[in-house]
Amino acid sequence: MKTLEPCTLVIFGAGGNLVRVKLIPSLFRLEMANRLPPQMTIVAASRAVRSREQWIGEVVDMLKAKYPQGYDEQAFERFCQRLHYHSNPPDDKDAYRRLQAMLDDNPAFSPNVVFYMAVPPSEFSGFIEHLGNTGLLKEKNGWRRIVIEKPFGYDLLSAQTLQASLYRHLNEPQIYRIDHYLGKGTVQNVMVFRFANILLEPLWNHHYIDHVQISHAETLGVGGRAGYYEGSGALRDMIQSHLLQLMALVAMEPPVSMTAEHLRDEKVKVLKAIRPITQNSVHAHAFRGQYTSGSIDGKAVPGYLEEPDVQEGSTTETYAAVKLFVDNWRWAGVPFYLRTGKRMAENSSAICIRFKTPPQDLLRHTRHGPPQPNWIMLGIQPDDCLKMEMQVKVPGLDLHTRTLSLDATYRKAGDDDFDAYAGLLLDVMQGDHSLFLRIDEVEAAWRVVDPILKVWAMERDFINGYQAGSWGPRGTYRLFDHDDQFWRHSLNPDGANLQAY
Ligand code: BG6
Repeated sequence: MKTLEPCTLVIFGAGGNLVRVKLIPSLFRLEMANRLPPQMTIVAASRAVRSREQWIGEVVDMLKAKYPQGYDEQAFERFCQRLHYHSNPPDDKDAYRRLQAMLDDNPAFSPNVVFYMAVPPSEFSGFIEHLGNTGLLKEKNGWRRIVIEKPFGYDLLSAQTLQASLYRHLNEPQIYRIDHYLGKGTVQNVMVFRFANILLEPLWNHHYIDHVQISHAETLGVGGRAGYYEGSGALRDMIQSHLLQLMALVAMEPPVSMTAEHLRDEKVKVLKAIRPITQNSVHAHAFRGQYTSGSIDGKAVPGYLEEPDVQEGSTTETYAAVKLFVDNWRWAGVPFYLRTGKRMAENSSAICIRFKTPPQDLLRHTRHGPPQPNWIMLGIQPDDCLKMEMQVKVPGLDLHTRTLSLDATYRKAGDDDFDAYAGLLLDVMQGDHSLFLRIDEVEAAWRVVDPILKVWAMERDFINGYQAGSWGPRGTYRLFDHDDQFWRHSLNPDGANLQAY
């Protein structure tokens, strides 16, 4: 465990959902685990005028919502000592200078400062500009770092423009582009699973793998986020960032070492090797849908168009699925199917890898139906798990086969459970970029999705609907290369073949 230097964490956008649901609870979780540096302070900044006491009162509400059974009161006392508040109204020209004076004049604030941009993406560059012009990003007697949330831009061009605006005030090592999926336990386990074991490496290629599915389904709808989501949609919100990152981890070559640059070098090679989708082939490679009213857990829920702040007749996709190919020696011809959807039947995210069937079907007389392939599945949520499906003989006199799931679920009751943001916040404080995106990765990811975004932006008169609580729109099967490929909704053998769409 590295000793962390003292630091000041300034969070812009403190009134927002991310801070309430993720950042404050994660920081408090680190406090309870005694992992925050002793001289660390947390300055929440937002446009609202609040006193420090009012802010602490709000933090209490956030923690009560996160820990309804109660939490460690001693840790909370320590946590409160760290909390400060800075009002940053957009029309107050003096706000940044006041922030600077506060940080400079009070020895409680370390000169090592992290600025966390938990603000709408359209405001990233404005904040950086203000910080830069005030001199707050200058590394005089301590380091200055910024954390930028996703999406980084709306397409390749805007990402490059945003990048240029950051480079006016910052160097690359000061920038942490966060993708919280990289902080999830199973996601890091993809690397451990691949690079700490030799067993699968000989099979990890187009000779043995039929296809790869990476999928994220959630039962929640767009909630109060339509303001952001209307300009984003599922492809930008989940695929350009989280799911392409997962794909890069599954497909990358072993890095020279696990250092940030070596890791990111290999991920970016995968992203660059993804076969470009031409505008003419968008329909063969991508499918979108939007939820209509339905029911989730027995409760009626509205359709996307009925959600607050959604524009009339909006064709923003809440479901997106794509088929991608990695044109290199390892993966030639292997489809990677990525899909994501809101208001789906279940909350589940997983990487499912289907192997080819043996070259000769010697046991065809022992079963009804087609040969069953091997699968390896890494469950990301709700449960971290690792499963492998094999064929075995059914006990008894006759030679019958059935699918057996080897369950190597590694999480045990009582194991530490930290949200992805907790680990990533620690990484920023210790200056580790391994799980943050480099600009060339972000650009390569935009290159993959840009042609799809362009075509979808032109086709604004129709979008496929799917009922809330279902597994997405009918018709997505047309992305599959073969009739025996289907979306895997369940990681259990009996639920494998539920629906073909
Ligand atoms: C966010 C997206 O980045 O990830 C959300 O903006 C999505 O729309 C969320 O719901 C999913 O994250 P998680 O950690 O809940 O799987």
